[in-house]
Amino acid sequence: MGDVDRIIRPAASPPAARVSAAVGRNGASQEELRSTFSRYPTGVTVLGAGNDELMRGMTAASFTSVSLVPPLVLVCIRRGTLMRQVVLDAQAFAVSVLAVTQEPVARHFADPGRPPGRAQFAAVGWWPAPVTGAPMLAGSIAWLDCRLEDVTVAGDHEVIFGRVAWATRTDRRDPLLYFARSYQRLQSSAAASPALQNLAGRQPSRTRGGTDVHPL
Ligand SMILES: Cc1cc2nc3c(=O)[nH]c(=O)nc-3n(C[C@H](O)[C@H](O)[C@H](O)COP(=O)(O)O)c2cc1C
Repeated sequence: MGDVDRIIRPAASPPAARVSAAVGRNGASQEELRSTFSRYPTGVTVLGAGNDELMRGMTAASFTSVSLVPPLVLVCIRRGTLMRQVVLDAQAFAVSVLAVTQEPVARHFADPGRPPGRAQFAAVGWWPAPVTGAPMLAGSIAWLDCRLEDVTVAGDHEVIFGRVAWATRTDRRDPLLYFARSYQRLQSSAAASPALQNLAGRQPSRTRGGTDVHPL
């Protein structure tokens, strides 16, 4: 029994087809695990690090806030990526939280064929983060400038902890989302479900920038 087989346990009432995939050959199990992970919806960030010819950006959905005191965040970066090396060399990274209008930017910074160094930022607006100088993207909804705090190897990824040295945000409410391996936009659950609207007792009342904002 492989690692993946050991950690996938049938839920209380799993669909039969899902169980058979989970207990099947290891290849099928990994695919099932990847699909299961993909059902956790996330925002989308672009990490930026390095200077000049070593500058690099990478699309990352694994960003998580960790602690307020001290201010810590984490990102998981696959081992063997150039991005991992650039972050470790620079001992710093910036996080740009993407707006829904930045889906092409997310695709660009996830493309292994993007140009190396500073050239990969030529098509996007960017500026050096105030404390570390790591590249931050224009048009995003929030930004964090981080010094490298700690690194932990975790399987085929490394968990990279950053101590936030500077952070700011816009008031925009139109983040780019990622779910089931495709890009999504924020939509009020209540707007999509009449039953939830009844529970809430009121209708989505405000719209900003094309995105429903529910008053709950
Ligand atoms: C929506 C999305 C989220 C991603 N999140 C991560 C992530 O959190 N960590 C990671 O290592 N790669 C992630 N990737 C894959 C990298 O963006 C991609 O493999 C990148 O080319 C690797 O960087 P490198 O070119 O420096 O090797 C993600 C890709 C997409 C499309």
